[in-house]
Amino acid sequence: MSIPFNRPDITHVDRGFLEDAIIGGHSSGNGIFTKKVEEFISETASSDRTLLTTSCTHALEMSALLCSLRPGDEVIVPSYTFVSTANAFALFGAKPVFVDSREDTLNIDASLIEAAITPRTRAICVVHYGGVACEMENILELAKAHNLVVIEDNAHGLFARYRGKYLGTFGSLATQSFHETKNVTCGEGGALLINDASLVERAEILREKGTNRSRFLRSQVDKYTWVDIGSSWVMSDLLAAILWSQLQRANDINSRRVAIWNQYDSDLQDWADKHGVLRPFVPAGCEHVGHVYHLRFREGEQRTRFIAHMKEHQISCVFHYQPLHASPVGRRFGGFSGQCPVSEHAGECLVRVPMFNTLNDNDLARIIDTVQRFIP
Ligand SMILES: Cc1ncc(COP(=O)(O)O)c(C=O)c1O
Repeated sequence: MSIPFNRPDITHVDRGFLEDAIIGGHSSGNGIFTKKVEEFISETASSDRTLLTTSCTHALEMSALLCSLRPGDEVIVPSYTFVSTANAFALFGAKPVFVDSREDTLNIDASLIEAAITPRTRAICVVHYGGVACEMENILELAKAHNLVVIEDNAHGLFARYRGKYLGTFGSLATQSFHETKNVTCGEGGALLINDASLVERAEILREKGTNRSRFLRSQVDKYTWVDIGSSWVMSDLLAAILWSQLQRANDINSRRVAIWNQYDSDLQDWADKHGVLRPFVPAGCEHVGHVYHLRFREGEQRTRFIAHMKEHQISCVFHYQPLHASPVGRRFGGFSGQCPVSEHAGECLVRVPMFNTLNDNDLARIIDTVQRFIP
């Protein structure tokens, strides 16, 4: 039997909530499930406001608009990330300035950020890779000194923590993804966490096509009208119902994933050390949620052979990001702050092994055994 890289776990229980939403007759946004999910995330994470969106990409685009960027403004982003982290800012005329990652966590290297700051810099968008936190004290301190907005692209790390505090609550803004590859999913979806109360009202307007419809829905105005730019970024209540159901068991999902992560890490340690393969590193104070387990070979050719070896045994392993500073659009629009050797190496040599909460112990043992039989 083949083992996929990811298996989304949408269950009959989730279907029950979806049916409730359908029977309730409210399928557009702003229904009861949207309200429940937004309140749950805000209360759990102590965020001023959570707005469900159609994707993490769209939540990042809302963040770019909330920074009121002008053409030519610069936003510091890691090179090693998903395209949306940079594209969201480029879309509104800003220049993404790429910074390399730390060798150990693959998060943006905080010690390289200051050199990338110019008079045009407006924001820093960090990514907590695999839900392992960036060095937030240093980053927040730098941002304060240079008057920059901090945005956390927390696509991987809902409910992960740094020094006891949830990721997504450090920056003025943070974004989440509920894409089918994420721990908690509704197929496609996202959220914007707003931790600066002064940005809440404009965020609501941006998400509602530039109208003050949110105020109208709260009976604060008797009709709504076009008051700003914006777009259609409201999540359907049908998807919010699935998300609400998934959130009820988020602890179970995350615990199982962390258990799988720990098993990979302990069982592959000797094999990795013997062959010079790097395993993920989790600094003290970081509690992740088992989103990604990855291995880094020394050479890209070893990764190619590894993926083929695993495929031969019907196990799907996949690489992750390609360095954005070297991508066609990154070269065209981006600023490039020095070299990004860590991002380039990860782009060429990193591979992710199967990770999903329904992975059973037999399949996990089979994957580990198959990895151990590979000679790089
Ligand atoms: C770091 C990061 N940011 C943003 C996204 C985009 O998420 P979405 O598919 O919800 O737009 C991803 C996708 O996996 C991601 O890895």
